[in-house]
Amino acid sequence: MFAALLVPGLLILAPGPVARAQQPVTVTVRVDQPAARIDPIFYGLMTEEINFSYDGGLYAELIRNRTFQDDPKIPVNWSVVKDAGAEGAISLDQSPVPNTALTMALKLEASSASGNARVGAANEGYWGIPVKPDTTYRVSFWAKGDSSAKGPLAVSLESNDGMTVWARADLPRITAEWRKYTATLKTRKLAPSATNRFVISTRSRGTIWLSLVSLFPPTYKNRSNGNRPDIMELLAAMKPGFLRFPGGNYLEGPDYENRFNWKATIGPLEQRPTHMSPWRYRSSDGMGLLEFLEWAEDLNMEPVLAVYAGLHIDRGANIITGDALKPHVQDALDEIEYITGGTSTTWGARRAKDGHPRPFELRYVEVGNEDWLNQGTASYDSRFTMFYDAIKAKYPAIQIISTMRTRDRDFVHTRKPDLLDDHFYVTIPTALAQAHLYDDYSRSATKVFVGEWATNNPRTGDTPMMAFALGDAAWLTGLERNADVVVMNCYAPLFVNVNPGGRQWAVNLIGYDAQTSFGSPSYYVQKMFSNNRGDVVLPATIDPMPTLTLEQIPQAPQPPPPAGRGAGGGRGPTGPFDGIYASATREDSSGDVILKLVNVQALTQPVRIDLRGVNTIRSGATGEVLTGELTAINTVAEPRKVTPRTIAISNAAPAFTYDFPAHSVSVIRLRTR
Ligand code: AHR
Repeated sequence: MFAALLVPGLLILAPGPVARAQQPVTVTVRVDQPAARIDPIFYGLMTEEINFSYDGGLYAELIRNRTFQDDPKIPVNWSVVKDAGAEGAISLDQSPVPNTALTMALKLEASSASGNARVGAANEGYWGIPVKPDTTYRVSFWAKGDSSAKGPLAVSLESNDGMTVWARADLPRITAEWRKYTATLKTRKLAPSATNRFVISTRSRGTIWLSLVSLFPPTYKNRSNGNRPDIMELLAAMKPGFLRFPGGNYLEGPDYENRFNWKATIGPLEQRPTHMSPWRYRSSDGMGLLEFLEWAEDLNMEPVLAVYAGLHIDRGANIITGDALKPHVQDALDEIEYITGGTSTTWGARRAKDGHPRPFELRYVEVGNEDWLNQGTASYDSRFTMFYDAIKAKYPAIQIISTMRTRDRDFVHTRKPDLLDDHFYVTIPTALAQAHLYDDYSRSATKVFVGEWATNNPRTGDTPMMAFALGDAAWLTGLERNADVVVMNCYAPLFVNVNPGGRQWAVNLIGYDAQTSFGSPSYYVQKMFSNNRGDVVLPATIDPMPTLTLEQIPQAPQPPPPAGRGAGGGRGPTGPFDGIYASATREDSSGDVILKLVNVQALTQPVRIDLRGVNTIRSGATGEVLTGELTAINTVAEPRKVTPRTIAISNAAPAFTYDFPAHSVSVIRLRTR
């Protein structure tokens, strides 16, 4: 066992027993005084294309740079394959496929090839192509050949050195006209691996052009343009209530051209032109508007739609306002119609044509993203008003979210938003202090959607360490306690591809590579809280509250404070901090009282749990506890290093004592029936 010696900016782990707090604490829960109802969709997900969230992430496509647009000069992620005795080359060539959005092709020139000497083009995938046993992969691509190119073409999944072919299929002769070809590749018994490539090859001379080359493994619920099952299963286990999409900065785009233009993300893949994400790589737009909605549908989540509102992240250089914004207001109305309209409406009919006749339900629309940034504030009221008026006129039941935060107190909305979207990326001391942020929030003020939050530190890695999970959990107890003003919340960012070059943002909830995915300690906090949400808040008090100095609270490595300043540098809360954070709720269906308790002390804390106004508490109580070394993280190699353990309590009663471990997050279900 290790005890943490805590020094600001530095965390040292020293061997030693974990001590027990001398002073017991009483948590009193007023079961007889149910307070606010907690929204059934209180816990949800926030998502955007960042850190290879979809391409190279959730979206199951295995071919990277499938439309050859990722680099205008060279076919990145593609290489030429030449058997001994064969000659050939690959290059980019502007060769549009008629009646599609495909403009760029890969030109494969086989100057010398024969029956036993092939020439081909290989794709390396997103840091490798994962291959599994007894699995069927769907291949499709567009191709044409010059007059001498006879084919036939072969497609194969093979090891990177080409020595082992896992699966192969031959396609008929190709023609001089662009045409779409499809095939399936079926693997047999093999050991799963990701050090593989996908190859299209020919054994005869000639020139072949390729476009939109796609390779899909089996997907979640077998959707043809669907998602990775392992990541979807991690999400499903969180029981999220909503999906906030498509961003985030991804909604705004780096500039006008590259905003999230939903109309360019629907329909057959060959009709999607693709666009640059603000996170410095091109999005295939395989995850388009309908795919976001189907993702929400598959996990029983409500869509929370953010609509483009004229702001990009090009430092406010080109904010679209006034008359120029009107077509985008219409775009938003069209988008809502695409989502919710019957098939007799223009855009509802389009959705049906795209494969989803049944309308989706939509209760929340957010106008823009973080318009308090990048000089967006000055024009936001006029922009918000335009969207608000147009949306409410046609869809009066839709709740409209403003991107102004509760702390933008001077901002005056001409139209009163239904919710304000607060965002927080905070260090551990701030997360702990902010567990009380909404305690004093005016109960008559506009309610809150915490649309992005995380305890993080930009100097740390892909996913949160255990110390951050403590900050997250403490903060969440504050959101639950204030569920009368906080309607929904979601952590951000959700995903990261942990391969070198995969990350633009530290830290992220779920990590993965081509083969494996894992939840971080913060993921498990989300899962524990969301699975044990409860329906009504029960007042809970902690007495006496143990307090901690800044030096005593869990810290993570962070940049040294500015010269001349002490710990906290005058830039964050300096304490004292609560040592314990708690939230109590009751679940309608079971009658269970659910107690969540976060002990951020480096001491085991005995707690007397005093449930007032309840006659029966069954002696057998259950729960989960998450604890670990403060710097512990989960990784591809050790995906379950920090995971919750089951709690079984045999002496539960209306009043009983329980020891909460040091640095732990506990959720306990107390049965009243
Ligand atoms: O979550 C990462 C980014 O943080 C989001 O895109 C943006 O809304 C926020 O600034």
